[in-house]
Amino acid sequence: MSSSIEETRTADEARLPAISPAQSEVEERLIENVLRSFEQCTEPRSKQLMQSLVRHLHAFIREVRLTEAEWEQSIEFLTAVGHITDDRRQEFILLSDVLGASMQTINVNNEAMGNATEATVFGPFFVDDAPLIENGGDIAGAGAGQPCWVEGSVSDVKGNAIPNARIEVWEADEDGFYDVQYTDHRVSGRAHLFSDDEGKYRFWGLTPTPYPIPHDGPVGQMLEATGRSPMRASHLHFMVTAPGFRTLVTHIFVRGDGLIKSDTVFGVKDSLIKDFEEQVPGVPAPDGRELGDRDWSRVRFDIVLAPEGA
Ligand code: BEZ
Ligand code: FE
Repeated sequence: MSSSIEETRTADEARLPAISPAQSEVEERLIENVLRSFEQCTEPRSKQLMQSLVRHLHAFIREVRLTEAEWEQSIEFLTAVGHITDDRRQEFILLSDVLGASMQTINVNNEAMGNATEATVFGPFFVDDAPLIENGGDIAGAGAGQPCWVEGSVSDVKGNAIPNARIEVWEADEDGFYDVQYTDHRVSGRAHLFSDDEGKYRFWGLTPTPYPIPHDGPVGQMLEATGRSPMRASHLHFMVTAPGFRTLVTHIFVRGDGLIKSDTVFGVKDSLIKDFEEQVPGVPAPDGRELGDRDWSRVRFDIVLAPEGA
């Protein structure tokens, strides 16, 4: 027996409910057979992925003593996830998100690199070709909400400015909807801009507000059946690219938001929680914009990019 099978046995036994040695033997023999069926795989990574998947899947089935009715329900659930998925809706990614699998994959692939800004989930609402705005421009468009002045810098891990970094930003309006969720083809709450010669950037957006992930499908039903909320903590998305640097996909979150600890896709990282400072009407805006009797907010987000290949 190979050592990986031995390891599986030991780890599984620690979690298994009491079953007879004969029953245990039957279950283990099956695992060994399935693992062996991948032994001739000539592509080492595929072999590792498939054998590990088999080990963990069988460990789950054995640990919970999965009933045949539960197995059927699981197949029906995954079938429904497939049926609702199309070019515009990716329910499998949503499922991965709410199970923390997306975030764990990001964690595994973005091991903290010194002071580089941490990454978080991409989400389904990014759109290619968002309008270009100048520094100091406004991304809100028709989107309703409290104006928010966003400013910061883009630098490398040694603090050197990165000019001309491409910064994509996108966010929901105060009603909790992204532009693509409206049927009137509006483009709002999204844009791209470039850091200036000193690596600085600034724009007007909206103070982020909480919103639910799409929850009218099987993933939403699963959340409801398990007593979980579909709400995401308030956030503003960023994707930052610059030649020679690792692409950063992240968001910033609002300090004090009540959903920070229960974000349904587990996207919050402490380093990404920022102070959105409330400004009362009459406080002059940084760019001289006339806000009349409106309150507004401001936030600073300094972005540090990790080198490519890190
Ligand atoms: C979002 O932030 O836009 C999002 C992320 C994961 C799932 C659904 C929405
Ligand atoms: Fe979002």
